[in-house]
Amino acid sequence: MTLPGFPVSRPRRLRQSPALRRLVCETRLGAEQLVLPLFVRPGKKLRRPIDAMPGVFQLSPDEAVREAAAAHAAGVPAILLFGIPDRKDARASGAYAKNGIVQQAVRLLKKELPSLLVITDVCLCEYMEHGHCGVVSCGKILNDPTLRLLAQTAASHAGAGADLVAPSDMMDGRVAAIRAELDKNGFTDTPIMSYAAKFASAFYGPFREAAESAPRFGDRRSYQMDAANANEALREVALDLQEGADIVMVKPALAYLDVLHRVKTEFGCPTAAYAVSAEHAMIKAAAAKGWIDERAVTLESLLAMRRAGADILITYAAPDAAKWLSRQS
Ligand code: PBG
Repeated sequence: MTLPGFPVSRPRRLRQSPALRRLVCETRLGAEQLVLPLFVRPGKKLRRPIDAMPGVFQLSPDEAVREAAAAHAAGVPAILLFGIPDRKDARASGAYAKNGIVQQAVRLLKKELPSLLVITDVCLCEYMEHGHCGVVSCGKILNDPTLRLLAQTAASHAGAGADLVAPSDMMDGRVAAIRAELDKNGFTDTPIMSYAAKFASAFYGPFREAAESAPRFGDRRSYQMDAANANEALREVALDLQEGADIVMVKPALAYLDVLHRVKTEFGCPTAAYAVSAEHAMIKAAAAKGWIDERAVTLESLLAMRRAGADILITYAAPDAAKWLSRQS
């Protein structure tokens, strides 16, 4: 494409008024793309603030319904549920217990808010006494013995009424194992949103306080991806799609927009971006100091994820963003 030069070309012509700018706007941001993560723990009327995540709470199921209802009323179509059990063990049994905290919360949420999409995070770290996402033996995180537990967890979530399941563990072969178990139990229509390209990231710091899931020894580098690797991310996504993932996710979001863009360009499938806990914390902290405009920075960040290729935006700011967006035009 060859453009005529100045003065024939004047890009500013199309920036003269809000109406003109809207007419040529390439990327839309809307509440319908937002997913709100929620943390549930056993109890009643419980709202425990999380230090490093202002505005985010550990909630009992009844309070989670209140929080979800407010977000839903503001236009947020979906939530992503994380559970914090009372007891942890070496088999993560709370993750697939029939009356586990996520299972209870899903039942209540689907009963009270039937039009809200309930997505469940499928992982074992919150339920394991050692805080790792898989079964541990001799200091190693075992892949294949973990698959069974993940598959059981996903089927149990679907049984409780989850609309989608979202495995975040990064074990090899988990999507296939989960798909097979869901199908075997009659949940052929339950979609899988896989955390396909999930990086071992320092941006998860505040989340581990929220989910009480920090590993007791070592780190997650033997299963989550190296931040340096983008080609490998494409291979991870390809494998998850082959295994039956319906939606793929890139996580974290802002520091990995190149990966997001390549995933969308390469595969063209529904793609989610997860604006993780530290992304939220940094904006909140700078805004509290009066150093940035919270609303403008939040919306610009979400827009950047959309521009890079994300269809779905998972963000702790979903309720605020939904309100801001409805007031924008
Ligand atoms: C669980 C999980 C994590 C996040 C989502 N699912 C933490 C981790 O992998 O340590 C991070 C979310 C966030 O930081 O907001 N495996």
